[in-house]
Amino acid sequence: MTPNADRIATPSRRFAAEHSLLLTGATGFLGGAVAACLIQGGQADALLFLVRADSPEQGLERLRDNLRLHAVSETALEALKAAQILCGDLLDTRWLQTERARLMRVEQVINCAAVASFSKNPTIWPVNVEGTFAFARAMSQSRNLKRFLHVGTAMCCGPQRESPVRESWDFPDSEEQLVDYTASKAEIERRMREELPNLPLVVARPSIVVGHRELGCQASGSIFWVFRMGFALESFTCALDEQIDVIPVDYCAEALVALALKPTLAHGLYHISAGHGSSCTFGEIDRAYALARGEEPVGERYRKVSPDDLRELAGSFETRIGKANPRLVLRALRLYSGFADLNYLFDNQRLLDEGIAPPPRFTEYVDVCVESSREVSIPAQMLWDFK
Ligand SMILES: NC(=O)c1ccc[n+]([C@@H]2O[C@H](COP(=O)([O-])OP(=O)(O)OC[C@H]3O[C@@H](n4cnc5c(N)ncnc54)[C@H](OP(=O)(O)O)[C@@H]3O)[C@@H](O)[C@H]2O)c1
Repeated sequence: MTPNADRIATPSRRFAAEHSLLLTGATGFLGGAVAACLIQGGQADALLFLVRADSPEQGLERLRDNLRLHAVSETALEALKAAQILCGDLLDTRWLQTERARLMRVEQVINCAAVASFSKNPTIWPVNVEGTFAFARAMSQSRNLKRFLHVGTAMCCGPQRESPVRESWDFPDSEEQLVDYTASKAEIERRMREELPNLPLVVARPSIVVGHRELGCQASGSIFWVFRMGFALESFTCALDEQIDVIPVDYCAEALVALALKPTLAHGLYHISAGHGSSCTFGEIDRAYALARGEEPVGERYRKVSPDDLRELAGSFETRIGKANPRLVLRALRLYSGFADLNYLFDNQRLLDEGIAPPPRFTEYVDVCVESSREVSIPAQMLWDFK
């Protein structure tokens, strides 16, 4: 961890009214980091949270449980009130009517809620497209709304793009996307832009979010297990000299808050990514990871395999990664290798031009991820992405 890693200043602007920033997805990885960033920046009173719960009190408990993982202090958690919880589910959007008065007073939305899964999950389209569209359409009727910051994913650009990938509203056909999740994320962006001209929409597309600069994988082991598995198996589908675009969740959250609160922005679409300046090669990650574990890097023992050859590794799963369901591990490796093989870096010049600091490199905080994962087996950590 670099002690002086650049931090993005949380805008100190006071909000005009209480509960004027609506955050969705705050019980999840990225939304939890956004909530922590806003609370630590002194903005707690401004926040309203959309949470799936039967009552505001239950919603508040769910939120507090997640924010503890993001190291929010007990004093700050106690100060949050049930009145700041708006109970609602994007699968059943009747709450958009009953909560309309509160919604119409909101000035900023940071929309992190989504089914963020590469698996075949029947709720992906109903939540990520239909429910999200109903929510955005309701918000587009507000006179008070200044910005609707929607969190997309950089991978929604689809395959066959030239790297570094630049921000673009062009999407491939849904069938060309690697998984339903990225197809749904592309479709909702397209629909909001084309069908909701009054929505003050800004889209932020993070690249690959792994760990936290200071908390490592405490709040989520999402995707870190893929690196652990690759090094334990001494094989994966990428070459060691290929680069990967990874950012920590706290950096991503700080960038989202800055994009939500900056009075003016030059664009309506931003990557939040490592780009050329902060991406690392797998070889660099191998060395930093090994150093953190007090081991020799995999280095020359590493074998690049084709996606079809992943199956040959199954025989060594148990000895190398611990007890696991080999079919699930193989499916996971195949899914994630599909994205890794795209070999994309995502251009982040637009973000930097907004005065937002560049992210740290993954190698600068991989030791914190290793430390926080010591007691967690690789198959157990994998379950973060297969809930
Ligand atoms: N993690 C990454 O690497 C990454 C990269 C690029 C983009 N993103 C984007 O970042 C956003 C957040 O992802 P994440 O990694 O933080 O995912 P996550 O940890 O799975 O969190 C998802 C959040 O969405 C909420 N949610 C899910 N279904 C909902 C529904 N039907 N109604 C209301 N809320 C619902 C969840 O609430 P419950 O707690 O109630 O389930 C949770 O708070 C997503 O839009 C994703 O596409 C993530």
